[in-house]
Amino acid sequence: MAERGRVLVTGASIGIGEATARRLTAEGFNVIATARRADRLQKLAAETGADIFPADLTVQADVDALVAHVLNGGGITALVNNAGGARGQDPVAEARLDDWLEMYRINVLATVALTRALLPGLRKQGGDIVFVTSTAAQETYVGGAGYTAAKHAERMIKDTLRIELVGEPVRLIEIRPGMVKTEEFSKRRLGSEEAAAKVYAGVAEPLVAEDIADAIAWTLTRPKHVNIDSLVIRPVAQANSWTVARK
Ligand SMILES: NC(=O)c1ccc[n+]([C@@H]2O[C@H](COP(=O)([O-])OP(=O)(O)OC[C@H]3O[C@@H](n4cnc5c(N)ncnc54)[C@H](OP(=O)(O)O)[C@@H]3O)[C@@H](O)[C@H]2O)c1
Repeated sequence: MAERGRVLVTGASIGIGEATARRLTAEGFNVIATARRADRLQKLAAETGADIFPADLTVQADVDALVAHVLNGGGITALVNNAGGARGQDPVAEARLDDWLEMYRINVLATVALTRALLPGLRKQGGDIVFVTSTAAQETYVGGAGYTAAKHAERMIKDTLRIELVGEPVRLIEIRPGMVKTEEFSKRRLGSEEAAAKVYAGVAEPLVAEDIADAIAWTLTRPKHVNIDSLVIRPVAQANSWTVARK
């Protein structure tokens, strides 16, 4: 095991998760990177030396196989629950339940399933769990209910665990990013490149994936008695989810 420990990063095929896997390997952590797309993970492995394990975290058999892989390798010292995302931006009056279900599955249920499975080892040996939620976990906006409901729910997993595990050597860390310009997040949410481009149009310097990776690396490298409970990070041009300066 590397001196700094062994970290499982979910959603590591692209965006914030990929940047986090790259940053943590560069800082001397042993990284296990997971996501569905094996080809992208293979590229990451070739470039960083990260161990990779493709899995769909909404499929219990995949979660089980991933957990077995992690435990066979000696367990982990940290889990970064990053896989997630948004689908659609419909008002509640027109809510598409398929989108709500998908968001709940990946942001909430997959996070609980993996956290629950890896918790015994983390409690026994000590360790960290990072939750990449969103400012959507603390506020809402027109058309945001499906995503904000899922991210509020994800935040409650962390908040509840924080009190359930108090006194144990497990740090529970939440990162709440505002607008981060990643390659696929808004495209997946809105369905087209054009719609995604409008999200960032005229915004001076939205955050980039590396900014969030930097924050995650910082929280994990604080002295062991320091638990960064939650960290809200936005670009200077964004005051809240609906107040954004555009040129
Ligand atoms: N971008 C933003 O503005 C922003 C702001 C606040 C919070 N966040 C949150 O930050 C996290 C990362 O965002 P991002 O912008 O980096 O998103 P992204 O670029 O869309 O990446 C999402 C990652 O999750 C993985 N994933 C999706 N569904 C999965 C599944 N069923 N099983 C396993 N992996 C799955 C994807 O990989 P595969 O497709 O290869 O499986 C991908 O690696 C998410 O939780 C997001 O909600 C993003």
